[in-house]
Amino acid sequence: MFTTELATVSYIGATILFILSLGGLSNQETALRGNLYGMIGMALAVLATVFGPQVTMAGLPWIIAAMLIGGSIGLYAARTVQMTQMPELVALMHSMVGLAAMLVGLSTFIDPEASKGFVGAAKSIHEMEIYIGILIGAVTFSGSIVAFGKLSGRIGGNPLLLPGRHWLNLAGLLLVIYFGGAFMNAHTIQDGIMPLAVMTVIALLFGIHMVMAIGGADMPVVVSMLNSYSGWAAAATGFMLSNDLLIVTGALVGSSGAILSYIMCKAMARSFISVIAGGFGTASAAPKPAGDAAQPAGEVTPVSAAETAELLREAKSVVIVPGYGMAVAQAQHTVYEITKFLRDKGVNIRFGIHPVAGRMPGHMNVLLAEAKVPYDIVFEMDELNDDFPKTDVVMVIGANDIVNPGAQDDPTSPIAGMPVLEVWKAKTSIVMKRSMASGYAGVDNPLFYKENNRMLFGDAKKMLDEVLVILKT
Ligand code: TAP
Repeated sequence: MFTTELATVSYIGATILFILSLGGLSNQETALRGNLYGMIGMALAVLATVFGPQVTMAGLPWIIAAMLIGGSIGLYAARTVQMTQMPELVALMHSMVGLAAMLVGLSTFIDPEASKGFVGAAKSIHEMEIYIGILIGAVTFSGSIVAFGKLSGRIGGNPLLLPGRHWLNLAGLLLVIYFGGAFMNAHTIQDGIMPLAVMTVIALLFGIHMVMAIGGADMPVVVSMLNSYSGWAAAATGFMLSNDLLIVTGALVGSSGAILSYIMCKAMARSFISVIAGGFGTASAAPKPAGDAAQPAGEVTPVSAAETAELLREAKSVVIVPGYGMAVAQAQHTVYEITKFLRDKGVNIRFGIHPVAGRMPGHMNVLLAEAKVPYDIVFEMDELNDDFPKTDVVMVIGANDIVNPGAQDDPTSPIAGMPVLEVWKAKTSIVMKRSMASGYAGVDNPLFYKENNRMLFGDAKKMLDEVLVILKT
């Protein structure tokens, strides 16, 4: 059993470990250590809370039973989820944090014991914490459910643009403030429950409306934004429960999520405000169902695996640009084999990683690390973009939007202004994909029709296996 002093010391220890964890996760070399710090910190936090002074013996079996059920579901989900489904799972988890904040807020309000001892200003602050906590929780909950629906294809990706949607949002905000006043002035629980319920419904509708209005191409930013919201919802829960660790942890998640959203907005040339306001991009910015072919806009030059191997054999410098298709095909291990082979032959081979390649931040880095590709040949887009004119061959493996020159040349493109890897400046680029289908943003890619571009059609893993066999013979 943890005494109050021991619980406080454990909370401080857990806070330090969480900060070290975030620091560790910022770099590939230290990411494993960062994860370890996070796991130890969380174990310490859970133990100090469950066996701490705030939990009675009578409540313990309930908590342990709930932990066993929740832990089993979490373990099952983590073991079975595909890497490409990760953003959906994350969105679903954010919705749980929002739901928890709502339920804690409601139970804190209706439990007379929880509000005992709060008088005057302290009572007002306590009520405000409940109101704001439920507000953030409800927006996070419904917004994350819609984000889950959109990412998993259960809800269409097109932005829903209601007429006068900004006015609707403004009216919602004013109503929330009005009912906030009514809630704070209520003298009994019965009087307060009505304004609280109305605000909750408005917040739930606002969360749905906010995410429905966002085009499919902007979903990555939304997921990271909801991650930030879930942090603030947790912090609000911490205030309601007077739990310092939850406040600090929530603030860490909230602020790191906000920073990540900002970085992603920059990587996709979006203004943060325009993403939040919604409706960014047109229907064409929304993801098309897999396999949808873009309108052909010219002739392409297909190549075989043998021709690809020949081009690689003659190259002195090679850049590999991986994208979502590499993850789908699980081609990273063959990519590593080819890299090793070419490096042994003295070829200068490097990787160019776009900040939003794949379907989640760091998606490509995780796959390459799993395949044991050395970190020192993996570069970010900005570090490599100037080198393309000096590169003999660029292999684009299952990437599309992140190498689309239309982002620079076509101001009408839904991805106009998004920074891209300028692979077309290399002597030869080879794009590996199965068909002429568009990528996530649903736009045609003029790279495919360039004179110095070749298309290697087929599943990335299958084609690369063939290339490797030919290279080795
Ligand atoms: P995409 O533009 O989505 O292109 C991926 C390409 O891979 C597709 O054109 C597809 O063409 C090909 N492909 C699929 N399966 C394949 C397989 N088995 N073998 C070979 N090719 C395969 O991917 P990207 O270039 O990585 O760009 C990422 C996009 O996703 C951006 O628009 C970004 O905004 C968005 N997004 C990013 C994130 C984050 S945080 N990274 C999250 C959500 C969305 P075929 O069907 O013809 O094979």
